[in-house]
Amino acid sequence: MQEQQILKNTNAEILNQFNASLLFDKKLYAQDIKGSIAHSKMLALQGIISVDDQIKIETGLLKIKGEIESNQFVWKIEDEDIHMAIENRLGQIVGGAAGRLHTARSRNDQVATDFTLYVQDKTLDIKAKLKRLIEVLVVIASKHSDTLIPGMTHLQHAQPINFGFHMLAYANMFRRDFERFGSSYERNNYSPLGSAALAGTPHNIDRFKTAELLGFYAPTNCALDSSSNRDFALEILFNIATSMMHISRLSEELILWSSYEFGFVKMSDEYATTSSIMPQKKNPDVPELLRGKTGRVYGNLIGLLTVMKGLPLAYNKDTQEDKEGVFDSVETIEISLDILTAVMETLIINKENMEKACQIGHLSATDMADYLVKNKNIPFRTAYYITKEVVSYANSINKDVSQLDINELRKSCSELSSIEDEVLRYLDLRNSMNARDSFGGTSTAQTKVQIELFENWLSCN
Ligand code: ARG
Repeated sequence: MQEQQILKNTNAEILNQFNASLLFDKKLYAQDIKGSIAHSKMLALQGIISVDDQIKIETGLLKIKGEIESNQFVWKIEDEDIHMAIENRLGQIVGGAAGRLHTARSRNDQVATDFTLYVQDKTLDIKAKLKRLIEVLVVIASKHSDTLIPGMTHLQHAQPINFGFHMLAYANMFRRDFERFGSSYERNNYSPLGSAALAGTPHNIDRFKTAELLGFYAPTNCALDSSSNRDFALEILFNIATSMMHISRLSEELILWSSYEFGFVKMSDEYATTSSIMPQKKNPDVPELLRGKTGRVYGNLIGLLTVMKGLPLAYNKDTQEDKEGVFDSVETIEISLDILTAVMETLIINKENMEKACQIGHLSATDMADYLVKNKNIPFRTAYYITKEVVSYANSINKDVSQLDINELRKSCSELSSIEDEVLRYLDLRNSMNARDSFGGTSTAQTKVQIELFENWLSCN
C-alpha cells in the first residue's frame, strides 16, 4: 500500500516534469508580464474588468517581475509553465482580481504572443551585432584595398585580388543577413493576442489596442492560424543558420590562414589556445568552435520544421518543443557574433606573406591570355594555349609567370618570339589585380567604391 503510494507520487512527479516547460520557458517572463499588462489594460478600457482590478493586476505583475529579477521567485514545476507560474503567484499577491486576467485569452495565444515578442527583441539585438561585425570588416577592407592576396577557386590559386576585397565578400554576406533578419521582423510584427484558444472570443475585446500597446503593427488576421503559427520561430532559426554558415566560412579561412602553410594572419593570443601536450602549439580553437557550433544551429532548424510538419490545426502540445532550439540558436549566434567581431578587430594581418603567396601559381596567367586577345587580336582559345606553354616554360625554370623577363617570355613559345616589352606590365601582379576594374571587381579603385557604398549603408542603418 505504502509502496503503491510512493509509485503514484513518483509517476506524478515524472509526469509533471515531462509535461512542464517551466524550466526553459521562464526565459519568457518579461514578455509574459508585458503581454499580460497590455491585455489587462485593454480589458479595463473595454469595460470587461474594472479599473481597480486592472491596477491591482498590473501592480502585482510588476512585483512578480521584481521577484524574478532579484531571484526571490519560487519556481514550482507543478505550475507547468511560465504563464501559470505568474498567474498563480498573482493570485497569491492580489487575490480575486488575478482570476479576471485570463478573460478572453488562452495560453495558446498567450504563448504565441510571448514567443513572438521574444523573437522580435532578439532579431533587433542580432541585427545590431551583425552591423558591428560589418563595421569591423569594412575598416579592415579600407586598410587593405592594396594588399595582394591570392584569390582562389577550388582552394587553388586563381587570380590576384586584394585582401580588402576579400573582407568585403564577407561584409556582403553579413549585410544580406542583416536585411534578412530585418524583413522577417517586418513580416512577423503582428499580434496573435486575442486569438484565444483557436477561434477568437465572444468578449468585446480590442485586439488593435493590445497590438499597439505591445509595439506590433496590427493584430494577426486569423485566430485559427495565429494560435498555432510558428513561422516566426522558423524564420529566426533559418536566419541564424544562414548567418552561422557565413560565420563558419570565415572561420574556416581564419583556420587555414593561421596555419604555417598560409601564415597570412595571426589571431591575438587571447583567442588562440595552447595544446596541453605540445608546448609549441597555438590552436585556433575559437574559429573551430564557431564552425562547430553551426551544426547545432542547423539541427535546431530541422528540429522545429519536423515538429511542425504533421500538426493538425490548431494548437497541439508538440509546439511546446519550439522554444529550447530557438533559445539555443539565439544564444549561440549572439556570442558567436561578439566573439568573431573581437577576433577580427584584433587580427594581425601578415601582408608580406599574403603578397609572397601571390608569386606562386601563375596568378597573372589569365592576364597574359587577355593581353593577347585585346592587343594582338588572337582568338581566346589560341591565346589560352599559348599561355599554357608560357606557364610550362615558367615551371621548367622554377619561376612564376609574373617573374619572367622579356627574353624568357620570347623563348617560352614560338608565337611570342617577337612580343613587345609592354606585355610585362600585364603580368605584374598588382596591375593584374587593378585591371579587374569592372563594377564589383577587385581593383583597388572598385574596392574603394564598394567601401564607400558600405559606409553610406552603415550610416543609414
Ligand atoms: N507551455 C505551453 C507551450 O509552451 C503553453 C501553451 C499551453 N496550452 C495548452 N493548451 N496546453 O506551448
